[in-house]
Amino acid sequence: MSKIRLGIVGGGGDSLIGVLHRVASHMFDRYEITGGVFNPDFDENIKFAKHIGVNTDRVYLDFDTFIEEEVSKPKDQRIEVVSVLTPNFLHFPMAKKLLENGFHVICEKPLTTSYAEALELEELQKRNNAIFAVTYTYTGYPMVRHMKHMIANGELGEVQKVDIQYYQGWINPVIHDPEVRKTVWRLDPKKAGISSCIGDIGTHAFQMTEYLTGMEVKSILSDLNMLYDDNSLDLDGTVLIRFSEAVKGVIRASQIATGEENGLTVAVYGKKGAFKWEQENPNILYHMTDDQPKRIIKPGHAYVSDVAADGTKLPGGHPEGIFDAMGNIYKGVAKALRGEKSFDGEYPTMNDGVRGMLFIEKVVESHKNGNIWLSLDKK
Ligand SMILES: NC(=O)c1ccc[n+]([C@@H]2O[C@H](COP(=O)([O-])OP(=O)(O)OC[C@H]3O[C@@H](n4cnc5c(N)ncnc54)[C@H](O)[C@@H]3O)[C@@H](O)[C@H]2O)c1
Repeated sequence: MSKIRLGIVGGGGDSLIGVLHRVASHMFDRYEITGGVFNPDFDENIKFAKHIGVNTDRVYLDFDTFIEEEVSKPKDQRIEVVSVLTPNFLHFPMAKKLLENGFHVICEKPLTTSYAEALELEELQKRNNAIFAVTYTYTGYPMVRHMKHMIANGELGEVQKVDIQYYQGWINPVIHDPEVRKTVWRLDPKKAGISSCIGDIGTHAFQMTEYLTGMEVKSILSDLNMLYDDNSLDLDGTVLIRFSEAVKGVIRASQIATGEENGLTVAVYGKKGAFKWEQENPNILYHMTDDQPKRIIKPGHAYVSDVAADGTKLPGGHPEGIFDAMGNIYKGVAKALRGEKSFDGEYPTMNDGVRGMLFIEKVVESHKNGNIWLSLDKK
């Protein structure tokens, strides 16, 4: 079978996330990186393309040239799907133009910088019948997929409490010096959007909440912390969530949790049992009940669900990690692009991205209006 022709925008040698997507795209031999714009500086762009072995004839001066040149090629040679790995404010204009010109898209989160933009993209995607993934990376872990599957099968009984915490500490060393904090794009509203912490990592926690439970959060109330008057974007937030009067939870996110690395911790409590999972230890899933000792579930064993087994390449005891999780998402997208059968939730969709933007906007609005409850119903 011919490989899927993949383009990449952003994700250059200077980026954090580029290598994750490149490795993920190669993992199951389904894609070929055919071209792109890795960097706004053309010399850097070409240098980097040579370094990673991409044909420089299809590495373009800028994004507009990329579109112009690619659409002029015959359909069977044209790039099919494009990964958008640029800072947040570029996701919307780039994804929009890609959809308008017939490309499928894999876009980094947060989907856009506003809910209105997200709705516009959704409308365009539906009209064009395009495949559109939003890379909420953590859904690619086998144990996360196993949790989702087992919760849907009733393993925990009715869910009654969800507690998702995402704590990082990397902003602590930069936030206290006004000159240093100016250099961080995630703290610049023009580049990051209306939120730093909730937009960057709270959105992962929110998506995980709905992904795992299969339920929509109905309303939220938030309390944010900006630390300094001249810093307009949140660095920390606590969000109360309600699925219904009887099913509630909390999302806690922070970039100033001093010393924390990438501490995403997930707990879902049901009437019959609970699951607990930590991103920094992703091959261990705890299953707790009232009357049995705590069980440890691990990937690579015959007892895991089919969807978890499909996302595991090696026998038990060979730790797989974040690269493999993103690889699983790319595999899900490849199946969709080639019309193959796939599991529910093999890649996060446009709807996850749109709801993520609604969450970010409502969290900021709730805080600004004195920590009030707001509905999260998608209009
Ligand atoms: N899924 C995840 O877990 C995860 C993790 C980290 C980052 N992200 C997301 O990925 C995106 C990028 O984050 P990052 O940390 O890699 O950022 P970064 O600043 O490290 O890298 C951004 C890259 O985009 C390139 N770029 C900027 N403007 C461009 C343009 N006009 N054309 C082409 N390339 C351009 C830069 O040269 C750089 O290579 C963000 O939206 C972020 O939220 C997601």
